[in-house]
Amino acid sequence: MTQIKNICCIGAGYVGGPTMAVIAQKCPDVNVTVVDINEKRIAAWNDPNVENIPIYEPGLSEIVKEARDRNLFFSTDVNAAIDKADMIFISVNTPTKTYGIGKGMAADLKWIELCARQIAEVAKNDKIIVEKSTLPVRTAAALKDILDNTGNGVKYQILSNPEFLAEGTAVEDLQNPDRVLIGGDIDSPEGKEAMDALVNIYATWVPKENILTTNVWSSELSKLTANAFLAQRVSSINAMSELCEKTGADVNEVAKAVGMDSRVGSKFLKASVGFGGSCFQKDILNLVYIAKSFGLHEVADYWEQVILMNDHQKRRFAAKIVKTLYNTVSGKKIAILGWAFKKDTNDTRESAAIYVTDYLLSEQAEVVVYDPKVKPEQVYADLEYLCTHSSEEIRERVTVVQNADEACKEAHAIAVLTEWDEFKELNWKAVYENMLKPAFLFDGRRLLDKKTKEELGFEFFSIGN
Ligand SMILES: NC(=O)c1ccc[n+]([C@@H]2O[C@H](COP(=O)([O-])OP(=O)(O)OC[C@H]3O[C@@H](n4cnc5c(N)ncnc54)[C@H](O)[C@@H]3O)[C@@H](O)[C@H]2O)c1
Repeated sequence: MTQIKNICCIGAGYVGGPTMAVIAQKCPDVNVTVVDINEKRIAAWNDPNVENIPIYEPGLSEIVKEARDRNLFFSTDVNAAIDKADMIFISVNTPTKTYGIGKGMAADLKWIELCARQIAEVAKNDKIIVEKSTLPVRTAAALKDILDNTGNGVKYQILSNPEFLAEGTAVEDLQNPDRVLIGGDIDSPEGKEAMDALVNIYATWVPKENILTTNVWSSELSKLTANAFLAQRVSSINAMSELCEKTGADVNEVAKAVGMDSRVGSKFLKASVGFGGSCFQKDILNLVYIAKSFGLHEVADYWEQVILMNDHQKRRFAAKIVKTLYNTVSGKKIAILGWAFKKDTNDTRESAAIYVTDYLLSEQAEVVVYDPKVKPEQVYADLEYLCTHSSEEIRERVTVVQNADEACKEAHAIAVLTEWDEFKELNWKAVYENMLKPAFLFDGRRLLDKKTKEELGFEFFSIGN
């Protein structure tokens, strides 16, 4: 049986970093090297102070402290790590294409292909390649084609091992996963041997019955399906939140009543300003694109609606702010509490806060942002990326501050856009007193208690209430 001694992971991002840290922690006999072309990111992973690692996840810095320089290494020397490895995880970004065919829908596999070509060029002995990135179904065939046709006669086995961690709880999810999914060539002895090698890594800490093995295509498609189902639940409850606002029903009560049906279940039924994160939107768009490319238009339209609903939810929340503030926010100070796409992460990709702020800027608001983990430059970069407003305008009209009290001072309105625990604990009385009146509070996360805020004097609005 293949015994894995050296692992290389290409991509030191939100998936590669935490995933490999946990493998290194659980398998001290395996050397794990995480490589990236981003020198700044690798330098941050190697920062002597583990609080400065580039990704914030509860519990992650402690694991890095334990395993780094023992059997966990971070490096920019991609070739050396490929050469040494028995098993190579590919964990690079696969964003939505921004050009050409499939623009705005298909996954951009440019970085995946570059990895394959680099592996083919460098590898001198047989390797197991593991797709950790989320990929369109049948990408393994393209990878194999590149490796077999450009390589040095080396034999490759390609496995699909999609990652199901959720940011904010990545360490817990990796240490106690609901399941680990491994797809491979189950019909060949070499394929089975490669799958067993990866199963054995995970079996160090994951019960065997929670490790599923399937064919590669099922594994690739399962990841897209899982994200589509999760996002669909959010859009479903968000659709109901709008109806609740019109009818006097409360979306939290509806969600509880529905979720207690064991066939439905209670998780992922929280109404909000809309889902964000790097994955849901891109993976559903990718699914829609794949369905369309097979001529399955009804399937494509069905899933696309999940995205359209999410866009609507963000837009209608921003529009509600403008309408409530007497149809104009021009020159008014609006405090945005929370910029990350969810609590306990510093990831801002596709965060609802970006879109709500962009909308408010179009209405000429003055926006002040506070997030406990997001750096000011990230806020500006996120807004600039949309290209709706010039860099000068953004920097003139958006201020990023270091605490919530400062953000809310003399504001006309507050919008809570990330469910950080600390926002529950603010001195809301003082916040109210320091605001302009009437003091409007818009809770996009159903985080705050309506009754106590109204008693303090706030004009309070929350999603689905
Ligand atoms: N973020 C999540 O919660 C999550 C969860 C499950 C799956 N995924 C999937 O995992 C993949 C990675 O996501 P992420 O959030 O970690 O992305 P990320 O952007 O945080 O990290 C990707 C890293 O890969 C590096 N990279 C790109 N090309 C490279 C190359 N040729 N050589 C070396 N390094 C290279 C980039 O510099 C970057 O640091 C994506 O396919 C994503 O869909 C993400």
